[in-house]
Amino acid sequence: MNNNTRKTILSGMRPTGKLHLGHWTGALENWVALQESYNNYHLVADYHALTTNLDTSELYQNTIDMVIDWLAAGIDPERSPVFRQSQVKEHTELHLIFSMLITKARLERNPSVKDQVRDLNIENIIYGHLGYPVLQAADILLYRGDLVPVGEDQLSHVEITREIARRFNTAWGDVFPEPQPKLTKFARLPGLDGKDRKMSKSMNNTILMSDDEDTVMQKLRKAPTDVEKVRRNDPGRPDVCLVFTYHEKFNPADIPEIREGCESGALGCVDCKKRCATAVNTFLAPHIERRRKYEEHPTLVDDILRDGEDRARETAAETMTAVRNAMKLG
Ligand code: TRP
Repeated sequence: MNNNTRKTILSGMRPTGKLHLGHWTGALENWVALQESYNNYHLVADYHALTTNLDTSELYQNTIDMVIDWLAAGIDPERSPVFRQSQVKEHTELHLIFSMLITKARLERNPSVKDQVRDLNIENIIYGHLGYPVLQAADILLYRGDLVPVGEDQLSHVEITREIARRFNTAWGDVFPEPQPKLTKFARLPGLDGKDRKMSKSMNNTILMSDDEDTVMQKLRKAPTDVEKVRRNDPGRPDVCLVFTYHEKFNPADIPEIREGCESGALGCVDCKKRCATAVNTFLAPHIERRRKYEEHPTLVDDILRDGEDRARETAAETMTAVRNAMKLG
């Protein structure tokens, strides 16, 4: 397909450092697949990181760590610019204009910010945090994104983006598409602690995309399994077992046999976990191979960002010209 007739995808993540398998199943896997048939922009939401953490001392390193994980996963920076939001000034400009198009009450109703306020025990929300989805709308619409690959938790932000696009177009003329969310297929990946919550750095229950073979083996060895399968030959219940979920995702070919072995008692948990670790390691091997180059030469990542930022700026500037023309500003 010609690049000009392709639809545009804008994907973004906050730079929280090294990524884990949950990021793969929830987002990255989708990003990599989508590069085949869309124009993609991959944004590092470093301004968004400030909404919950003013300590910027690790922001740059966290960005580099995350971008290496993207590249190791197969994101191709030549096809799809990889860039930091903070390096493209148009984000702040469009954010300001958009902030005139949405009410404070609407933002206060946004469930995902409400959840964060509750989870982080925030008593008095800052203005920029309340405006989180407004900045996200600017991220998406600056590149006139048609599609946004997201998990369930981000649907409300895409909805706000659509509202803002409509309001802009009504007030000043058709500049923006109304982007659609593109939900990721695989449900959230549970964390290694088996407490039925998702894999997350703050819960310390992750397998990192950068973990080596031994680390994966050690981490899985400690993972809980079906509590009723006490001895090796006891029959187990794969459907309540965390390790089985990982098999389903990373070792699908062996599923019938593992189910059978677990249920009949022929397969013990120790062996089952070893096989799971091997499957995860096999999955991670090409990532580890691809990341080596960037770990040995970190300046390559700086170059990729700089190049992505130049290209992002070009598109962003074009959109801002259209915005200013439509608004008769300047
Ligand atoms: N809010 C997103 C998250 O926490 C990150 C993000 C910022 C984003 N800007 C975006 C995602 C634009 C998609 C599109 O995951």
